[in-house]
Amino acid sequence: MQGNKPIIDTLNKLLTEELTAADQYFIHSRMFHDWGLNALYERFKHEQEEELDHASRLVERILFLEGTPDVGSRSALNVGKTLPQMLKNDLDYELAVGTALKSAIAECEKAKDYVTRGILIDLLTDTEEDHTHWLEKQLRLIDKMGLENYTQSVAS
Ligand SMILES: [Fe+2]
Ligand SMILES: [Fe+2]
Repeated sequence: MQGNKPIIDTLNKLLTEELTAADQYFIHSRMFHDWGLNALYERFKHEQEEELDHASRLVERILFLEGTPDVGSRSALNVGKTLPQMLKNDLDYELAVGTALKSAIAECEKAKDYVTRGILIDLLTDTEEDHTHWLEKQLRLIDKMGLENYTQSVAS
């Protein structure tokens, strides 16, 4: 089905963000693995897979709308050097993705592309209720229990 060009362009921008998020979780998860923080490694590896699943849903929709998915572009990565910095950088990225999703959802609504809108709402639900919420919880735990105790709690 022929889609509207501005919507396809917006979906491609969102695709770049999902792929960038996957790359950032990829490098952070492997750093956690190297440091022996296995619980964080597993969680971030899972986040990486979820971002790739979001990317996949966007690619499928762009193809359906007869557009060309741009799988080669990336935004700038923001790789942290310390555990709190890594969590904070990922949180900042999730918040930026959330904002971009909301404006894309409004654009779909205006264009009456309700099916694309539905896909983006699924992505926004994962972004807000899962990824963002989880990262905020970790930063709050570090605040409450101290970095040393938190680090110990995610080492196995
Ligand atoms: Fe995502
Ligand atoms: Fe996410």
